[in-house]
Amino acid sequence: MINKVGVIGAGQMGNGIAHVMAVAGIDVVLKDVSNEQLEKGLKVIETNLQRQVGRGKLTEEEMASALTRINPTITDDLMSDVDLVVEAATENEEIKKVILADICVKLKPETIIATNTSSISVTRLAAVTDRPDQFMGMHFMNPVPVMQLVELIRGIATNEETFEKVKQLTTRLNKTPTPAEDFPAFIVNRILLPMINEAVYTLYEGVGSVRAIDTAMRLGANHPMGPLQLADFIGLDVCLAIMQVLYEGLADTKYRPCPLLVKYVEAGWLGQKSGRGFYDYTGDEPVPTR
Ligand SMILES: NC(=O)c1ccc[n+]([C@@H]2O[C@H](COP(=O)([O-])OP(=O)(O)OC[C@H]3O[C@@H](n4cnc5c(N)ncnc54)[C@H](O)[C@@H]3O)[C@@H](O)[C@H]2O)c1
Repeated sequence: MINKVGVIGAGQMGNGIAHVMAVAGIDVVLKDVSNEQLEKGLKVIETNLQRQVGRGKLTEEEMASALTRINPTITDDLMSDVDLVVEAATENEEIKKVILADICVKLKPETIIATNTSSISVTRLAAVTDRPDQFMGMHFMNPVPVMQLVELIRGIATNEETFEKVKQLTTRLNKTPTPAEDFPAFIVNRILLPMINEAVYTLYEGVGSVRAIDTAMRLGANHPMGPLQLADFIGLDVCLAIMQVLYEGLADTKYRPCPLLVKYVEAGWLGQKSGRGFYDYTGDEPVPTR
């Protein structure tokens, strides 16, 4: 039974993962590189829990006890007795490999390691650990407290017991697990990201404005959010990283990242989190930039 979880990275995804674990009664060690990052993450958790209280989904007491279950830290020392580690750090293979290789020595032999990567090979990440059989992908969707799905990805060496334990945990979190094979970007992002990239090409080629493209897909395809707004929400750096993994991993030009997406990321226009992406978020209402 998984009763204590280490979450590495307190960003958009890591703080959401810590949130849903704590609400489910699981103790959490939340690690990031600086106290500043941890404080930011904890603030988001508190705001999101408060929103759930406001909507009657949680009581004040449940919120308070969830918060006491989350222990922030900048070292690996508190990871020594966790049953599961969920790595949710920056989508960069080299960064993840260093984190995973370093954490192994701190863990109990039976601890499972899961990665929340959106696109990187689970098998390749498993290979840098001392336990590829107890390693798998646990891919939460953004925003974690709201989204139902968790994709579960077996690496080539993942054993059945590991898969089953993580599947049971997913159900305990009131989420729906779905299995995916270890191919670049798995299922959701293999389909979603090329659509977003195509929306950026549509903008780049002048087929439509930001507003026209998002309105077209919301009202014409019944998507709850336009693809450019969704890209800003996911983070344009994350979108670009996933397209690069698809492009390199599947060696097919249909996955070529749009040059305009590359340029936005190079400019530091990363979407909502940086205040500007395809929309400008510095005012009261998001304003399209093109
Ligand atoms: N953003 C999404 O919509 C989304 C959805 C599903 C999965 N993911 C995946 O989740 C992971 C995290 O993405 P995110 O959007 O939360 O990114 P983010 O940039 O919001 O957060 C990443 C966090 O990792 C921290 N970090 C970096 N190096 C670290 C280290 N060595 N030790 C501890 N913490 C470290 C950073 O300081 C930052 O707080 C990525 O693998 C991404 O592909 C993202």
